[in-house]
Amino acid sequence: MRILAIETSCDETAAAVVEDGRRLLSNVVATQIELHRRFGGVFPEVASRQHVLAIQPVVRQALDEADIGPARRLDAVAVTHGPGLAGSLLVGVNAAKGLAFAAGLPLLGVNHLEGHIYSNWVQPPEDESQAAQELFPTLVLIVSGGHTEIVLMRGHCQYERLGATLDDAAGEAFDKVARLLKLGFPGGPAIQRAAEGGNGARFALPRALRHDPTHRFDFSFSGLKTAVINLLRSLEAEGAALDDAALLRDLAASFQAAVAEVLVEKLAAAAQATGARQVCICGGVSANRALRDGAQARFAALGLPLHVPPLFLCTDNAAMIGSAAFFRAGCAPAAANPFALDVHAGLPLST
Ligand code: KG4
Ligand code: ZN
Repeated sequence: MRILAIETSCDETAAAVVEDGRRLLSNVVATQIELHRRFGGVFPEVASRQHVLAIQPVVRQALDEADIGPARRLDAVAVTHGPGLAGSLLVGVNAAKGLAFAAGLPLLGVNHLEGHIYSNWVQPPEDESQAAQELFPTLVLIVSGGHTEIVLMRGHCQYERLGATLDDAAGEAFDKVARLLKLGFPGGPAIQRAAEGGNGARFALPRALRHDPTHRFDFSFSGLKTAVINLLRSLEAEGAALDDAALLRDLAASFQAAVAEVLVEKLAAAAQATGARQVCICGGVSANRALRDGAQARFAALGLPLHVPPLFLCTDNAAMIGSAAFFRAGCAPAAANPFALDVHAGLPLST
């Protein structure tokens, strides 16, 4: 089954052609990062207008690179319809409706979080054995700009939410702390760069809910951000400044260590409690080196297979949407009237 997938939920205009949920025939991402940088975050109206400009060339390129034409046809069109920015989602959904209607193809609506999960099932071109296998229960950590959740899958498309953040998402914490450290947008990659060679043990920052029995698999990151604010104040009172390169390195490394440690620790506890047979991490923050290294060491010690997508599939892309659409099509009947598909900014992950 060959699917054209479209993703426009936030600030990337993306289109991909995916075969049988795993094989990438093309994967095009037009990022808007430069446009939003001067606002210090994603500016929703600017994002939707840019999607309008980019969607046609991006889809065209994805079809061309996959060699879609009379000799190689599509079987369906898939599109992210939530969660995300409503105005941005609308551009992708309307483009997908137009394409599906014109080509007489089924239209499949995909949840963005389900997309992130299935980024682990897409075969990385450099090493196909890295992709997740049909091993259930599978435990998943979703860590993106808007979500931080631990989800247990007892089969394809079956989701049981074990825990989530009570306040900020992990990516949001990276973005907010990057702003405090004057590192710019997007915060995650900026903090990772700033933390290189830093001492993550220099500043003791909180690991919230670490030993809280009623929130075993939940997270909280807003207190961590406040702790960074307080630490900066006391450092400034002592005469220290962020232009001290060693200080900035250690601050960034200490913050990154606090986030990565609590994510890995709770994920490992959930894996042991549920008897998971494989573990997956996904979403923009899964690109983080400290998190990837920490998780790899921990799950190797536990003897559990760990999957983390290649970097280009961690942040938003359409390949993961094409993969999720394929597996979802195998679980659920197609919608009676796919053209009634609407956008849903707060769409929850559902079985
Ligand atoms: O999944 P994603 O591209 O978009 C959402 O669905 O939200 O995630 C974006 C988030 C941002 O908060 C960004 O700062 C974070 O992922 N991120 C990172 C890294 N790369 C992106 N966080 C930490 N380390 C990174 N290397
Ligand atoms: Zn995302």
